[in-house]
Amino acid sequence: MIIAVLGGTGDQGLGIALRFVQSGEEVIIGSRKADKADKAVEELKNLLEDEDLSNLSGLSNVDATSKADIVILTVPILAQKPTLDSVKEHVKGKIFIDATVPLQSNIGGTPMTYFSLWEGSAAERTANILKGTDAKVVSAFNNISSSSLMRFKEEIDCDCLISSDHADAKKTVIELIEKIPGVKCVDAGSLEQARTVERITALLIGLNIRYKTHYGGLRITGLPEK
Ligand SMILES: NC(=O)c1ccc[n+]([C@@H]2O[C@H](COP(=O)([O-])OP(=O)(O)OC[C@H]3O[C@@H](n4cnc5c(N)ncnc54)[C@H](OP(=O)(O)O)[C@@H]3O)[C@@H](O)[C@H]2O)c1
Repeated sequence: MIIAVLGGTGDQGLGIALRFVQSGEEVIIGSRKADKADKAVEELKNLLEDEDLSNLSGLSNVDATSKADIVILTVPILAQKPTLDSVKEHVKGKIFIDATVPLQSNIGGTPMTYFSLWEGSAAERTANILKGTDAKVVSAFNNISSSSLMRFKEEIDCDCLISSDHADAKKTVIELIEKIPGVKCVDAGSLEQARTVERITALLIGLNIRYKTHYGGLRITGLPEK
């Protein structure tokens, strides 16, 4: 499967692209500008100098989306709608992973506070904007920091909570993400659960600041082994 990471030139998207490339997936970094995507590809090639990265390329967000089977949105919340509008005609029937979180830092405040959206969560807003395309929206990656993703020699000590109204898409995404060393996926339920999951990101940012780290994450205990 081909994975496109929209806004993959930024912190979170680059980290996600890195981890999927390492796990052998074909990854396209998307950007508003194709040459910026190419620079991000070079950045990862320099970082992972000993690894074969023939499965990594860069394109515009639109071209990346049209080529991909799975699309991941990793842009600041204020860029959510324009980015989705620009790729909407190419997402028909595809799995669409939303990793965005509305934090007050996007509107001049603190990253430790969430701001509420009319739709309930960023993931539900994405589903609303993509309505009519048959895209299967899945919320994931909200609680894994870009620092943990970029620390590519280390396992990620964090669970990934997955919310979606599409059971088949959720299963595919869980299988994909669990290829990243250390990550365990937890089925959080319907897409509406993203309202809670996204808010945990603000909490984790506060904890990371308070404890002076970049790697604090979430582990859910007591669930039966799969
Ligand atoms: N960073 C984290 O640790 C983390 C953790 C969990 C969730 N998240 C969420 O993931 C998303 C991305 O976070 P990030 O830290 O990676 O953000 P970022 O580095 O600030 O931005 C990511 C990319 O989005 C594109 N972008 C920026 N401003 C834009 C605009 N006005 N219009 C259209 N595109 C724009 C840019 O790509 P191009 O210029 O190449 O188009 C940029 O490289 C956010 O919603 C954040 O809340 C982040």
